[in-house]
Amino acid sequence: MSRRGLEAALGAAVGPDHVLTDPDLRVGYELDWTGDYRGSARAVVRPGSTAEVAAVLRLCDRAGAPVVPQGGNTGLVGGSVPDATGSAVVLSTARLRAVDPVDRDAGQVTLGAGVPLAVAQHHARAAGFEVPVDLAARESATIGGMAATNAGGTRVMRHGTMRRQVMGIEAVLAGGDVWSHLAGLEKDNTGYDLAGLLCGSEGTLAVLTRVRLRLVPAPSHRVTALMGFADLAGAASALTGLRASLPGLEAAEYMVRPGVDLVRSVFGTPDPFDRPHPAYLVVEVAGATDPLPEVAAAVDGLAGVLDAAVAGSERQRQALWELRERHTDALAAVGPPRKYDVSIPLARLPDFVEAAVALFAPPNGPVCHHFGHLGDGNVHLNVLGLHGLADSDLEAIDGAVLGLVADAGGSISAEHGIGRLKRPWLGLSRSPAELAGFATLKSALDPRHTLNPGVLLAD
Ligand code: FAD
Ligand code: MLT
Ligand code: ZN
Repeated sequence: MSRRGLEAALGAAVGPDHVLTDPDLRVGYELDWTGDYRGSARAVVRPGSTAEVAAVLRLCDRAGAPVVPQGGNTGLVGGSVPDATGSAVVLSTARLRAVDPVDRDAGQVTLGAGVPLAVAQHHARAAGFEVPVDLAARESATIGGMAATNAGGTRVMRHGTMRRQVMGIEAVLAGGDVWSHLAGLEKDNTGYDLAGLLCGSEGTLAVLTRVRLRLVPAPSHRVTALMGFADLAGAASALTGLRASLPGLEAAEYMVRPGVDLVRSVFGTPDPFDRPHPAYLVVEVAGATDPLPEVAAAVDGLAGVLDAAVAGSERQRQALWELRERHTDALAAVGPPRKYDVSIPLARLPDFVEAAVALFAPPNGPVCHHFGHLGDGNVHLNVLGLHGLADSDLEAIDGAVLGLVADAGGSISAEHGIGRLKRPWLGLSRSPAELAGFATLKSALDPRHTLNPGVLLAD
């Protein structure tokens, strides 16, 4: 089918207003959040229903046009934008925003894949529930994108990643077949877990159109505490104590002084204490009764705490969270940074971080910032000062950092996925037999390799 022929057929399928071919209209869909991945699409298509997604995929599959599914475009590994060839169609889920009523009996809700997390959160809270996964990109990141990347965020230590919340899916395969399994039954032992398979598949096996999510009762109280430590090892051992004394612990995030300084310099955020500390731990406890006295007592009794602030009001809590949540924006403002999102067994985490930071050489060389979800052993290394290096130099640096991860028994991607960025390194975390299994699944479900070629798997 000619380029014009495909565009006309797509227009007939979704309405001509929802096929964008004008470069000015496409541009926002062609550049990823990090600014590192800029491609070119032959068209951006915005279907409004599962049936329209099926029609789009069928047409593109037959025409041999690759399809890049895109939700909120907040992904950090280059998986949501097309390559530079101009051959791909971007399938935006922006119009898949149907929101079903919360099923209070089951504690579940079915949402369109294009529903932003913040909208899902408001919807759940209005019915007395909470979405178990939370992350700083909540205003834009979509439920479909979060399922497709198996997103993590700040509450994984309590509730698990997205995969654990997904109770059912509706999804369209490359050839246009629809899988719809949305009953959300707790017990449903009827064969392969297709929803689980699509979580983390990064748009390479199917396009999610609807997702049924597990919700948790909204806690009536949340208390956040910030503590200062002499080093990261001190924060890590304090966390071991807090886990034992605070059963309602939902989040345990760490940051270090250079990152706090960066956030303060970019956003003017106030210093939390009268004096600086080398490392900080932000923890949050949620409960049906006010956990403030319990948190204050636990923090009081902890070894190694140099300063502490315990916040019960929403405004105070947000102020503490802001220091942690604004790291990504602050780094992007002075970057772009090279991002390494890795997980490490907790006992080896402080030594790993020390070795990774030592690969870089300030004051004049690149600077390695780090922060992360300490409760999950998830470190975000962000190296500034590498932009513009030759690809071969970047590859050597990636190899050195990710080699340390493999040596420490960690994973080269904790929560952001593989995308285009980590694809060359997947073999550090997956065996040849597993990769062969991936290829077999891909060929079975998407024989023409229409969906997101070049992402996650070698094309
Ligand atoms: P996109 O970026 O649009 O797409 C991501 C991938 O999913 C792509 O491969 C795309 O093809 C695929 N995809 C999207 N929608 C669909 C669909 N409907 N069907 C099939 N495939 C689809 N991530 C975390 O895990 N934890 C964090 O704490 C976190 N914090 C962040 C903070 C900031 C400030 C930013 C900018 C990002 C953060 N992220 C985090 C990364 C990002 O928000 C998540 O990866 C999120 O899940 C992406 O959702 P999205 O809708 O933006 O997906
Ligand atoms: C975070 O935890 O803030 C994110 O995953 C984003 C990042 O790594 O920059
Ligand atoms: Zn993160």
